[in-house]
Order: sequence, then C-alpha cells, then structure tokens
Amino acid sequence: MKNDLKQILLTEEQISLRISELGLEIDRHYEGKEILLVTLLDGAIVFTADLIRNLSIPLRLDCIRVSSYGDSTDPETAPRILSSLKSEVGGRHVLLVDDILDTGNTMKRVHDEVLARDPASVQSCVFLDKPERRQNDFKADWSGFSIPDEFVVGYGLDYAGQYRQLPFVGTLKPSVYE
Ligand code: IMP
Ligand code: MG
Repeated sequence: MKNDLKQILLTEEQISLRISELGLEIDRHYEGKEILLVTLLDGAIVFTADLIRNLSIPLRLDCIRVSSYGDSTDPETAPRILSSLKSEVGGRHVLLVDDILDTGNTMKRVHDEVLARDPASVQSCVFLDKPERRQNDFKADWSGFSIPDEFVVGYGLDYAGQYRQLPFVGTLKPSVYE
C-alpha cells in the first residue's frame, strides 16, 4: 500500500501535535457547555476518534452519512443525506466534524440540514482544507491543515475505498488512478 504513495504530506507526529492544539482551542471556545459532535461518515472517523480524546468538554456523538464520490476523485455537486442524525438537535451546540473541506458542498449541505433543526449554535471543524477548490462561501471554524489542490489519502481519507487506515496523509502515484 505504501508503494502506491507519491509523497507523504503530513506525518503522524505533525497530525497528533495539531490535534492537541485543536482540542485546546475547542475546549476553550465551548467552556461550560455541552456539545453534540456530529461526525461525517466515513472519512471523518479517524480524525474524530483522535479529536474527541483531546477534548475535555462534555460531548455526545452522532453521525451523518452523505453521498460520496464513488470511485472518482471528482466531487458530486449536490451531496445527498443518506442517513441522518438520531439525536435531538434543538437548543444544542452542534460541532460538525469532517475529514476535508474541498468544494465545500458537503459541509454546506450538512450545515443547512442541522440549522433547519433549530440548534443553539453550529460550528465546524475539518481536518484538512483545500481553499483553492471552494465552490461556495463556506468557512470552517477550525481546520487542522490547509493543503494544496491535490488528491490525498490516509488518516480516514480514501481513494476508491482504500488507504483509510494509513496513520499519515499522502498523495498517490498517478499510476494508481490509471
Ligand atoms: P466537498 O463536498 O467537495 O467539500 O467534499 C468533501 C468530501 O469529499 C470529503 O468528506 C471527502 O470524503 C471527499 N474528498 C475531497 N477531497 C478529497 C481528497 O483529496 N481525498 C479523499 N477524499 C476527498
Ligand atoms: Mg467524506
């Protein structure tokens, strides 16, 4: 699997250091409050697992599944909610967590869905951000790393369902797509 990689962009050490910083910032922001942390399946599970272990505020966890790329590297423009939240959202402080903010269409869709249910607040935290690719004005409140416009895998991110278990983030050799 490692042979399929062109370059490692983020090492395990860089990732873990950055997540501990994010944990402190998020703890400080929500001090004295409980949050409903909503993780976007499947890509955000690895990031979420590490992020929540760096949070001290009380939290409950829920999941939402949005239609994905399939086996292509191009995003769909109109993501669909495939399975929605089981929790009561009204009056709660919701923190959306995703692996990567690319076009922004997924996060915008989920943000709208949550807002419609009358939360006390909705904020978002993404592991990676590709600002060059944005198709709307969505901005994450917290982001782990800003990266260039390249397709990446590892740390939860997949290509055709593979590579999610890599503990670091890297780019693939072009031969993998061909
Ligand atoms: P957006 O709707 O275009 O912002 O896309 C967000 C979703 O696309 C993420 O949750 C990822 O699942 C997927 N995605 C975007 N860029 C990449 C990438 O470089 N590698 C793997 N998945 C990606
Ligand atoms: Mg995803």
